[in-house]
Amino acid sequence: MTKEISFKSLKAGQIESLIDPVAPFRQQIFKWVGNKQSYAHEIVNRFCRYKGTYFEPFVGSGSIISTLAPKKAMASDTNMHLITIFRRLLRNKEEIVKHYSENYYLLQADHDHYFAVRERFNSYGDPFDLLFLSRACYGGIIRFRKSDGHMTTPPGTQSTMKPDTFSAICDEWRIRLSNTHFDVADYKDSLYEVKSGDFVYCDPPYIASQDILYGSHGFKFDDLMVQIEQIRWKGAEIMLSIDSLDKHTEFFSHARDIWKIDIGKERLNRLRSRKASHRMEYLVRFK
Ligand SMILES: C[S@@+](CC[C@H](N)C(=O)[O-])C[C@H]1O[C@@H](n2cnc3c(N)ncnc32)[C@H](O)[C@@H]1O
Repeated sequence: MTKEISFKSLKAGQIESLIDPVAPFRQQIFKWVGNKQSYAHEIVNRFCRYKGTYFEPFVGSGSIISTLAPKKAMASDTNMHLITIFRRLLRNKEEIVKHYSENYYLLQADHDHYFAVRERFNSYGDPFDLLFLSRACYGGIIRFRKSDGHMTTPPGTQSTMKPDTFSAICDEWRIRLSNTHFDVADYKDSLYEVKSGDFVYCDPPYIASQDILYGSHGFKFDDLMVQIEQIRWKGAEIMLSIDSLDKHTEFFSHARDIWKIDIGKERLNRLRSRKASHRMEYLVRFK
């Protein structure tokens, strides 16, 4: 029988932090739609206390892990470009900053340089080009055309971040990610490594936007639920961010806590040319 799900709202004063509280960290490396940088601290401050390794198998553009700055962590994603950037940032920051600066000044001299970088990325797939495009494109909305997989987002109207500022952000991220190992991997392979005492945070592709966002295709939420059950059985803690509880009420009735988070105006709705509306997201802690 389906139990009724009780919600705790995310409001100031209601945080019962289980880890040492973290401060907001709003500096993004990538400008990336769906990124939680602006409210990542709200999520991290609800994490369970754990002794082992922190696992983040859908690390994406890294908003949560950069806010947490874990002492020992395994981060992964199927997006090879994002993982390559993190690895190279940890190994040699200067090459990323050099690439960014060169393209920044070329863009200042000629706005059409955006199209040249986009074309180069679509031909050769260099992750550094994608990073630059994420900062220079419209709204950080990286869109790929289904027919040929080409990145099609138009140039942004905002001014692109200055190289000195970008370099300082890279320095801060290097410190925060210094204890993290990054892998290109399917989440099931990463979760196989989880042991008792570890902590797992999952931010899977959004159910509501799987048709248009990069990296969402082929992901099956039902499979993730099976993995969550196995992790609970191993004795590790797991928390999950999710944009809808509607389809899996029975499963979420096993949750220990569910917080409802108002994440503000929904940029994806603007992308679909609809009126912007407030969007809710849920943070689930399992027993
Ligand atoms: C909602 S986003 C994560 C956003 C992230 N919290 C951030 O700060 O950017 C979901 C991520 O899941 C990744 N993904 C999709 N299918 C996956 C799979 N089967 N295994 C691992 N990662 C996957 C996508 O590439 C995407 O980066």
